Amino acid sequence: MLETERATDLHLTRRMRRLRRSEALRDMVRETHLHPADFIYPMFVVTGQDVREEISSMPGQYHLSVDQLAAEARELRSLQVPAVLLFGLPGSKDAVGSSGSDPAGVVQTAVRVLKDADPDLIVITDVCLCEYTDHGHCGVLDDQGHVLNDESVELLVGQALSHAEAGADIVAPSDMMDGRVGAIRAALDASGWIDTAILAYAAKFASAYYGPFREAADSAPAMGDRRGYQMDPANAREALQEIALDVEEGADLIMIKPALAYLDVVRQARDRFDLPLAAYNVSGEYAMLKAAVQQGWLDEERVVTETLLGIKRAGADLILTYHAKEMARWLQRPR
Ligand code: PBG
Ligand code: ZN
Repeated sequence: MLETERATDLHLTRRMRRLRRSEALRDMVRETHLHPADFIYPMFVVTGQDVREEISSMPGQYHLSVDQLAAEARELRSLQVPAVLLFGLPGSKDAVGSSGSDPAGVVQTAVRVLKDADPDLIVITDVCLCEYTDHGHCGVLDDQGHVLNDESVELLVGQALSHAEAGADIVAPSDMMDGRVGAIRAALDASGWIDTAILAYAAKFASAYYGPFREAADSAPAMGDRRGYQMDPANAREALQEIALDVEEGADLIMIKPALAYLDVVRQARDRFDLPLAAYNVSGEYAMLKAAVQQGWLDEERVVTETLLGIKRAGADLILTYHAKEMARWLQRPR
């Protein structure tokens, strides 16, 4: 080939690299941006006083007693992270998870303390039985050990009402019983909590990525597993059906969980539904990155940023993530 011909070919080639030459150019054409307002920060609240104990499987995350929460609220405000998701580790457990709907329970108290510390902080409560049942399942059991649907829904409704009464802005049922969103909506409305919103764990898969959480929330099932109510990881079409049902039943926001192995579901949900869409970057996803970072195998800021960008790019409006505080700090840093 002649030298001049080759030059012409190169000249005609579209040069994708032109807009990658400087940080200013890359900034200008960036399609996806993370903002602290995208994040919901999950917290584990325990009984007792002066508890601030690191969760070994989730470095940087803590078991906190309620006296620690006002300081957390202040820190989140300074970081512009607008919302928290609360999990409770109660003082006692039984077969039906009674402590979950105790008006003086650990989550109910935490809601009051946080709303007192900062009325603008959006307080979301996880509604489920597994943290409160002695068998660790997300519902109540029959004598064969099967999780009963409607009986469980009734108890979940009671727990959701107690959270609303404590002042939760949003309740987030994570149990995956059928019909619980509709039942919770009806009960909230009937009790005058018409402004309490529902964030439905709409498509929640039976995932190995919840491993560290079960230590964090002390909620591992004593026998069996959750595959009788959580979704099969192989099923994306079924996830869309699950979401459609929750939307129909009155969910205000919908969630896909976990995030990373299900980004196709996040994208399809974004394209199909118009409600605010959240993705839960779960404990195992967090622990994987933390472990590799601790080994010196990955650059923390870069890998966390890339991960959260991926979730947002797939279509999530909101990301529930244990990285919320550190990511907000990085975003706030002047460049
Ligand atoms: C309980 C619940 C779980 C998570 C949130 N709510 C665990 C489970 O279903 O086993 C997982 C959160 C995480 O892994 O970060 N229903
Ligand atoms: Zn549960």
